[in-house]
Amino acid sequence: MSSLGLSGLGRLEGGIGAIGAHSHGAEWAELWPDTAAFEGNYLRRVGGVELSELIAAHGSPAYVLDLATVESRINQWKTALAAGAGVGETTIHYASKALPVVGVCAFMAQHGLHVDVASEGELAVALAAGIAPEHILVHGNNKSMELLAQSVEYGVGFIVIDSLDELHRLGALGQPATVLLRLTPGVVADTHEAVATAAEHQKFGLSIRYELAHAAVDLIRQYPQLDLAGLHLHIGSNIANKDNFIAGIGRVAAFAHDTRVAVRHLNLGGGLGVPYVPGAVVPSITDHVETLFEALDGAFPSVPHLMVEPGRSLVGTAGITVYSVGTVKDVGDVRFVSVDGGMSDNPRPAMYGAVHTMAPVHRIGGAESPTMRQVMVAGLHCESGDMLGQAALPADLRAGDLVASATTGAYTLSMSSNYNRVPRPVMVAVANGNHETWVRRETVADVIARDQLPQALKLVTRLAD
Ligand code: LLP
Repeated sequence: MSSLGLSGLGRLEGGIGAIGAHSHGAEWAELWPDTAAFEGNYLRRVGGVELSELIAAHGSPAYVLDLATVESRINQWKTALAAGAGVGETTIHYASKALPVVGVCAFMAQHGLHVDVASEGELAVALAAGIAPEHILVHGNNKSMELLAQSVEYGVGFIVIDSLDELHRLGALGQPATVLLRLTPGVVADTHEAVATAAEHQKFGLSIRYELAHAAVDLIRQYPQLDLAGLHLHIGSNIANKDNFIAGIGRVAAFAHDTRVAVRHLNLGGGLGVPYVPGAVVPSITDHVETLFEALDGAFPSVPHLMVEPGRSLVGTAGITVYSVGTVKDVGDVRFVSVDGGMSDNPRPAMYGAVHTMAPVHRIGGAESPTMRQVMVAGLHCESGDMLGQAALPADLRAGDLVASATTGAYTLSMSSNYNRVPRPVMVAVANGNHETWVRRETVADVIARDQLPQALKLVTRLAD
């Protein structure tokens, strides 16, 4: 099931003593990048790069992205899609919100992927990465006029219509555009409520039940320059239950049948989860695509072009975050290990109760602790809720040691903030023993660069004197 469950913060009550070593079986390995090399309990290398050397070169904390893992996930998607009978062309649109970085989009394009963007910023990233406009698909439940105008000016491949208002706004521009209608089929996906996007009464899409989708089909006839090319469905994110996808596709197919919309392009969105904790049961990319094909079989008269929009399943497992340990504090028998990051670089534990598995990083030339113990890994921010989670770490862990958090490739950098005016980490890509900065570390000067000394306030103070 989905690993976006409730966090284990409460489980600390009662105290936790020393425990044995982790078992580094297959369930453990699938949480980490494919190239992760462990030495005992310690993570030593990713992408052939010694993590302690990487941190010496780039500083801490650092997001580290293993390109071999991304490439393997791309290939799994491609191979699985190629196996589908009964559909014509297939296209993978990387959901850039998962990790909207120029280098990552360029890497995706190099591997033949197209890109989905959901803001002017993400569009700028895709264009800076050299993505051809016709390979860009534009999303959003409240696209700015500027985003709509840029989309038609550049001639993006698809604009996904999310509301009747938006259809009017786009139509009023008077420019040709190829559009898909994003349908809300009323499917409640088994995931955290904040990322379930196809239930009734949430903000996305055109409800089938309340006939917003039918109204859109009628309305679009008023704008002959808009080409209604097909339909779009995205039921939510981090989903492991295949029945959710099957239900969504069934309802979209029924809508297409009832309204006789010609579905030349069918976009099934993203949503496949990845394991965050050992033993999490999540379908593989291959199994997931098989599920999609099974659901499509016979549901539509034909599917000339099938599109998917994976984010997490492409980059989630490929990324880790490496932190340095600072303060270690024993409160009764609960040990708090504070690191140099936290909810600003990964808000997922605080926002969704998400669990990210952690491991100590090999100390060059250092002795390994024979004992591991449960600790709480705390962030540096001014909230008690700023916890990265529970972890089994060496009993002798001390300031300066490094700790790695798994599965941070998706939705950490993209949701990072400057809470407490903390600069955001560097992002380093690794492959074949090489490492390269793809997003440079923010400086404190970057963080305060937009502030201005209030001249008016000076004036007021002077007047009051
Ligand atoms: N397509 C659309 C229209 C989307 O809204 C999303 C994700 C995707 C595709 C990609 O979904 P994926 O394959 O990554 O599940 N911040 C949350 C996840 C938010 C997902 C937003 N939309 C998290 O940290 O879990």
